[in-house]
Amino acid sequence: MTARDLSIELAPRNKRGLRLANPVMTASGTFGYGTEYAEIIDVQRLGAIVCKGTTLEPRPGNPQPRLVETAGGVLNSIGMENVGIEALIREKAPMWAGWRVPVIVNILGGSLADYAELAQRLDGVDGVSGIEVNISCPNVSAGGIEFGADPRAAAAATAAVRANTSLPVIVKLSPNVTDITAVACAVVEAGADAVSLINTIRGMAIDLALRRPVLGNVVGGLSGPAIKPVALRMVYEVAGAVEVPVIGCGGVVSARDALEFIMAGAGAVQVGTATFANPRAPLDVLEGIDEFLAKEGVSRLSEIVGAAR
Ligand SMILES: Cc1cc2nc3c(=O)[nH]c(=O)nc-3n(C[C@H](O)[C@H](O)[C@H](O)COP(=O)(O)O)c2cc1C
Repeated sequence: MTARDLSIELAPRNKRGLRLANPVMTASGTFGYGTEYAEIIDVQRLGAIVCKGTTLEPRPGNPQPRLVETAGGVLNSIGMENVGIEALIREKAPMWAGWRVPVIVNILGGSLADYAELAQRLDGVDGVSGIEVNISCPNVSAGGIEFGADPRAAAAATAAVRANTSLPVIVKLSPNVTDITAVACAVVEAGADAVSLINTIRGMAIDLALRRPVLGNVVGGLSGPAIKPVALRMVYEVAGAVEVPVIGCGGVVSARDALEFIMAGAGAVQVGTATFANPRAPLDVLEGIDEFLAKEGVSRLSEIVGAAR
């Protein structure tokens, strides 16, 4: 047991609230539904679990290959392979209802109506503690431009979710924009309880022997240590622009990385790609944060949130 207070409230404006015992979360798409890791590590010690991105219908995902290693990172084009919202509610949520660790469901829609319906279906489901809205998907009704690439479209997606649930709503921002603070401000105005950032950065790799792109989908999303400085800069900017909690994500491998995000203004962090190489990475990060606080004589994590600002 720790003598230090590592807890954080991620949805102070929401009636239900979203209190985490500690600031270490898993990043969507890198930790399945939590159950996959439950036999390897004690998932109940995590601050929160964010499950795989979920759509209205089950999806098979993109053509192979879908994952390739790059310098300091990974490119993926999974394409939102998932079981769909109905199976998630029927098969996954009842398990989560018995867990101590809060589970947040990451959702993805191709239209405002999709976002509205996903939010409505999750509202009141036992075992679901919050919604993370992935706005990095092309808006089919607006000609395929990412919701997250335009402040107005991002706000509209947020409002569609907000109007259909009383659950805490976290909006996950895309880094593939010129000014991420404009999008952050727009989604907060539209009712987001918190923002998380960043999602992957668009990239690609070429196979020299085949003389063609490595990924079946040509373009993929870059994650891992390579993106940390970009993510950190964006967290710093967004934390200075919004009043709601900010969740930092992108290349967190160690406690040091997490503490950098926290000092930049993040109240919590998500660990993603690091888990592929080390399934214990989120717990290593948690233990390292606690050791740092002990060494520095800090009794509450909240004392160092934004310390570098
Ligand atoms: C294989 C893979 C699948 C992902 N799937 C999702 C997803 O379904 N929804 C989402 O919002 N982000 C998804 N992400 C993005 C991560 O949640 C995270 O934002 C990104 O990987 C940066 O963090 P990291 O460098 O710690 O991995 C995925 C990332 C990877 C590598």
